Amino acid sequence: MPLLLQLALAVAVAVAMAGTATTTTTHTRFYMHDTVTASASGGGPAATAVRVVRGAAAAALPGDAVNRFGDLYAVDDPLTDGADAPSAAVGRARGFYMFASRTDSALLFSATMEFTAGVHRGGAVSVLARDAILDEVRELPVVGGAGVLRGAAGYGLLRTHSFNATTNNAVLQIDMYLTV
Ligand SMILES: *[C@@H]1O[C@H](CO)[C@@H](O)[C@H](O)[C@H]1NC(C)=O
Repeated sequence: MPLLLQLALAVAVAVAMAGTATTTTTHTRFYMHDTVTASASGGGPAATAVRVVRGAAAAALPGDAVNRFGDLYAVDDPLTDGADAPSAAVGRARGFYMFASRTDSALLFSATMEFTAGVHRGGAVSVLARDAILDEVRELPVVGGAGVLRGAAGYGLLRTHSFNATTNNAVLQIDMYLTV
């Protein structure tokens, strides 16, 4: 067979194979436990969200939202398959959130979600989101994946399942839609 024909055949086969490559879209639901206050005096060794910066503009601006502008929290929140704290762990959300609006209760949320159990076990996704914490539904754009989720694309929908205004502790429900 002439070389050129062989080459053309090889390209045709490669194109055909690429055409049949399968992608899978999955929906998973899990819960993120954000514990700001783990003891009566605040903070505590079991806290999973810790304020590491107090916004510089805090004292100068009126209103609750702007008073927290610039506040930055480091988070290492457990992810579970149910809303109750004792339900089975599926991973951790690690990163930070910062009050990033002078006018709204809106965070910039940046984290990796590493899955150690469940369908995404051995994978991680990176999310970078605007989290307007009083909105019923917030969108978590997935900017990438690692491990078994390498190359993943998709998004999460974040809802506040429960919030305790005394402790600021929250349980967030996340519906994650991923295509790998
Ligand atoms: C909020 O947390 C406080 C302190 O742990 C607790 O006493 C109270 O019952 C909680 N409120 C709700 C609605 O769970």
